[in-house]
Amino acid sequence: MVEGSGAGCLNPQASPSRSYTDPRLAAVYDALNPPEADALFYLRLAGDEPKTILDMGCGTGRLACSLARRGHRVTGADPASAMLDIARKRQGGDKVAWIAAGAADLSIDTRFDLIIMTGHVFQVFLDDMAVAAVLANLSRHLAPEGRLAFETRNPLVEEWRDWTPERTRERIDVPGLGAVDVHYRVSGVAGQLVTFETHFRFAEDDVVTTWNTLRFMGKDELAAALERSGAPDVTWFGDWDGSPIGPARPELIVIATFERPQDGPTAAFC
Ligand SMILES: C[S@@+](CC[C@H](N)C(=O)[O-])C[C@H]1O[C@@H](n2cnc3c(N)ncnc32)[C@H](O)[C@@H]1O
Repeated sequence: MVEGSGAGCLNPQASPSRSYTDPRLAAVYDALNPPEADALFYLRLAGDEPKTILDMGCGTGRLACSLARRGHRVTGADPASAMLDIARKRQGGDKVAWIAAGAADLSIDTRFDLIIMTGHVFQVFLDDMAVAAVLANLSRHLAPEGRLAFETRNPLVEEWRDWTPERTRERIDVPGLGAVDVHYRVSGVAGQLVTFETHFRFAEDDVVTTWNTLRFMGKDELAAALERSGAPDVTWFGDWDGSPIGPARPELIVIATFERPQDGPTAAFC
């Protein structure tokens, strides 16, 4: 079974996984995903001079609020209202404009100096049509000289091989919920698509399993998709310390500028 972004028609506007739409599972997100070096990378990318920034797929709003507290004008967008509900209540949440929308369907008049998509959100776009729709829509929301920055896991590293119950099992303490046992298990690999289960055990008889499918797109394919979308010159990094991409580097980090803002109508898919 495949849930959320992997369901049925591979549509960029398909609803997000239950991991993000179920309020109790959304509440687990921050404890399960403590801030890492990626946050510092994106804060540095934004710089000190105030900018107009879109955090697409902002989730619980941790980074969006940090950026707003540093003086940037920030919009946080996510299709999962349970994640946005947490984001709104965060310290600094009142400084951010929150929008319930996905990357392919956002449609607002603001044009951004920087659009970021962090936490491997890009991997929920499961086919070339979805990727093209997202790049077209996000580039349309960039100001002239604006930059789009995001990352996807390097498929050559095959990180999903580590997503076994034995290697991922952990007990986390979630404020308001108590101890939650979590582990992952890959349930299918089909070409570039990896489907994995997340098991949340709140109590002996209270276990929730979610399914997510992620695409592990290769560098050359991603570069070609960016070029087709009007971004032939891309800055690439292979890790959060700014090291170059390489077969053993965990990330494909993209910072792209587009030749022209694509201000046409957004294509409909599926
Ligand atoms: C792993 S979380 C990352 C959240 C946040 N960016 C972070 O770094 O903590 C993935 C997020 O992507 C969102 N998402 C799912 N489908 C999306 C789409 N089509 N467009 C934008 N975001 C989407 C989910 O709702 C979820 O909040």
